[in-house]
Amino acid sequence: MTRRGFIIAIASFIASIFRGVGKSMGALIESPDLAVCKKIHTQGEVVIETTCCPPNRKKIVDFVFETPSRIRVRPAVQHMTVEHIEKYKEATRRMKALDKDDPRSFAQQANVHYAYCDDAYSEMGLPQMPLEVHKSWLFFPFHRWYLYFHEKILRSLIEDDDFVLPFWNYDDPSSMTLPSIFDEINSPLYDQLRNQDLCGSTKLINFRSYRDDPQPQLTDTEIIQNNLRVMRLQMVTNSKTTQQFFGGKYIVDRPRPNHTPGSLEMFPHNIVHSWVGSKSTPKGEDMGSFHTAARDPIFYVHHTNIDRLWGVWKDINCKNKDPDELEFLEASFLFYDEKAQLTRVTIKDCLNTSALGYRYDNVPIPWLDLDKTCAPTFINRRGSNNLRKVIFPLVLKSMESITIRRRMNNRSEVEKESREEVAIIDDIELDYEESVMFDVYINPSDADIRTDMSNFCSSFMNVPNGGRSIIDVKTRFVVGLTDLLDGIQADNDEYIVITLVPRKGNIKIGGLFIDFLDRHNF
Ligand SMILES: *[C@@H]1O[C@H](CO)[C@@H](O)[C@H](O)[C@H]1NC(C)=O
Ligand SMILES: *[C@@H]1O[C@H](CO)[C@@H](O)[C@H](O)[C@H]1NC(C)=O
Repeated sequence: MTRRGFIIAIASFIASIFRGVGKSMGALIESPDLAVCKKIHTQGEVVIETTCCPPNRKKIVDFVFETPSRIRVRPAVQHMTVEHIEKYKEATRRMKALDKDDPRSFAQQANVHYAYCDDAYSEMGLPQMPLEVHKSWLFFPFHRWYLYFHEKILRSLIEDDDFVLPFWNYDDPSSMTLPSIFDEINSPLYDQLRNQDLCGSTKLINFRSYRDDPQPQLTDTEIIQNNLRVMRLQMVTNSKTTQQFFGGKYIVDRPRPNHTPGSLEMFPHNIVHSWVGSKSTPKGEDMGSFHTAARDPIFYVHHTNIDRLWGVWKDINCKNKDPDELEFLEASFLFYDEKAQLTRVTIKDCLNTSALGYRYDNVPIPWLDLDKTCAPTFINRRGSNNLRKVIFPLVLKSMESITIRRRMNNRSEVEKESREEVAIIDDIELDYEESVMFDVYINPSDADIRTDMSNFCSSFMNVPNGGRSIIDVKTRFVVGLTDLLDGIQADNDEYIVITLVPRKGNIKIGGLFIDFLDRHNF
């Protein structure tokens, strides 16, 4: 092993004692062998970088909760005190000044995404299957633990037991621009590999567009309204079930790996990565590509917000619940702590943030009270059964409208509460090294489909990996239909038209069908 890496985070599913217990359990994934870290990021035969290989320390301790427990409050970045900002800069400066081989150093922590987005690790016994913490139910808990240890290391470097990370709540109109503390040249929080359009400006991130998309002419007010509607769509309309919010199970007993990203991860988590990344680097480095994203300090406040929104989702509806499958609860990761001690954590220990010693400051949730169509107007257009048939697999080169006969219409309210009607866009094939985006609408008009929100369901988006050759992985994209069909008064319709609008990259779609998802079961 040539270089030392920082964090090893391993999705390991505690073994065979659970095999065969309860409902259909997948084959349990074992931790990768730490001694085997593959050379990664190749171009053809040329190895560009191998920096993610972590130290293979034998001694691993199990995580224990802090005692006595206390609750620290993570604030919104714009509400930080001057003193807190100075401490944050100083702690980050010290972290960047640590020896690059120190597992606590900023460079080594940044490598965690590198390690998990490139195929440095394989799942045990499955050398062809890279370990991946995105695009499945591992996404929220992995990042929660990652931030927990990052914050602890910062805290110890300035010997301030009160120190907390802030969050960037870009879901609020007051924070839809790059936070100014990250935009001061020479500050430890600055990164030059960013989208220059956002720097030193008041330019708003537009959740409906990737960063170098030719922009439709929208006023700031329109962008803010659209962003709020996207938030409501993703946090409510497209997150009625545990499976939609978290993404798919991460299991290996399939003929091939299958990625199903959760709603918030897909959008706007991915679009924020894309917007902040530079327009002049090959893959939008730093933030615009997973292998470099965590080299930008803003990564950590982007993810505290995602972590906060996980809690918001649980708070806004008492029916919203974390997965309770053993394969989820018992999954474990390894991180280096503030003493550079390799520590094993499990997902079940991160589900209660109070027990981890923090909560998020209360800030307004301006998207929550938008009406359930998320649309400015009612638009009741009918699907019809006489459009041309689309043949799958479909190479999505231009807008395609697909007429679907629903399996069930005019559902009762009780039925709608217990099962969500979803459209599943299945077996999506794409180049995982590319930015990819397409939009999904129900019964749209021919009016400007780029900006129309009234019949908009969601966007599919891929953030590029660094140089990993993912072969034979297909992705599934799930959109919720129940609220939207009610909103456009189409719930009694037998046919609906689903329109796919390509925005960026090459996309092939294997199939499209309607299904019903249980509120909690996967
Ligand atoms: C979460 O943790 C706190 C602090 O340990 C505890 O008081 C509380 O009861 C826990 N909540 C749940 C739902 O377990
Ligand atoms: C929908 O179902 C209700 C009863 O559940 C029925 O009264 C109503 O006529 C139905 N509407 C349509 C358009 O089928």
